[in-house]
Formats: sequence, C-alpha cells, structure tokens
Amino acid sequence: MANDEVHSGRRRFLTATTAVVGAVGVGFAAVPFITSWKPSARAEVAGAPVDVDIAKLENEPGMRMIVQWRGKPVWIFKRTPEQLKALATLDGNLRDPKSDNPDQTPAFAKNEARAIKPDIAVIVGICTHLGCVPGYVPEMLPQPFDSKWQGGFYCPCHQSRFDLAGRVYQGVPAPSNLEVPPYHFVNDTHLVIGVAPKGAA
Ligand code: FES
Repeated sequence: MANDEVHSGRRRFLTATTAVVGAVGVGFAAVPFITSWKPSARAEVAGAPVDVDIAKLENEPGMRMIVQWRGKPVWIFKRTPEQLKALATLDGNLRDPKSDNPDQTPAFAKNEARAIKPDIAVIVGICTHLGCVPGYVPEMLPQPFDSKWQGGFYCPCHQSRFDLAGRVYQGVPAPSNLEVPPYHFVNDTHLVIGVAPKGAA
C-alpha cells in the first residue's frame, strides 16, 4: 500500500515532469514558427516608405536630419543659396557631374542639385567606396583635406570627397556619386522616402 502510494506519487511526479517538458517542447516548437515569419514582417517594416516632417529644417538653417530607410541612413538637409551657387562651379572637379550613372541618381533627380527642390537634399549617407558613413562638412571654408572646399561630405575611411549634392570628386577611391533614394513631396513640409514622384522613373 505504502509502495503503491510511493509509486503513484512517483507517477504523479513523472506525469507532472512530462507535462512540463511537453509544455517546454511546445514552447521550443513554437519559437521556430514565430521566427520563421518574423523576418518577412521585419523586412516589410524595414522596406516600407518613411514619412518625414521636414518643417524643422526651415527653422534651423544648416540642420541635417537623418532617417533610416531600408537599414540605410538617409540625410535630409537644406542648402543655402550660396551653397547652391557653388555647386555650379564644381563640375570640372567631379567624376560624374551630370549624374549620368543611373544607379545612384533616379531620373527625377538628374539635375545639378540632384533633387526635386534644389534647396532640399535627400541623399543616402553611405560612401560608394566601401560603405563608411562620410562626415558632413557644410562650411565653405578651407579644410585640411581640401583648401578650396565648397561644402560637402568627407569620408574618413579613405578620404573620398563629395559635394553638397553628393557628387563624387575626381581622384578619390569612391567610384560614384552618393545614392539619391526614391522620394516625393506630399506637401511643403512632408516628404516620403521610398516612393518616387508620380509618373517618375
Ligand atoms: S569607404 Fe569611403 S572612401 Fe573608402
């Protein structure tokens, strides 16, 4: 009788243990299922267009906003009339001044400022050499790396230089201009990154 009690006690213990293992097993079994659909959900969010309020660019001249789109930093900043004027003087120093390479410049941005609105720049902040993030040096002042600097981006990894339209200088390791992502304006203070203007390539 005492044995029976011991056995039934052990059985209860075993049953309880099995139940716990079973529950854990279900837990483990459920994880791969959840992880198996997580990446696509994540990818959907990561690839989704990003709505950006750029009103603050008006109030803080020289300010640069950085938003993430598809895992890449996208820079949005406002260029001054002087900076825009300087862009026109740089063609002779640049590798692809007219943005003829369509890999970095969608047709809607194939102009000097590489933009829909000349003063508002929207550029992917990844160096086209080996993927470092170039520094923002907007001041039109001599720099240690360029005595005639007209504002732009300087990549500290291997010294590539880009102007304020993201166009690459000649004689640097980066082979091409910085990428302009697809984007469009919803109104004067809102733009959407990830979707080109209606009817644009
Ligand atoms: S990664 Fe920018 S110059 Fe090499």
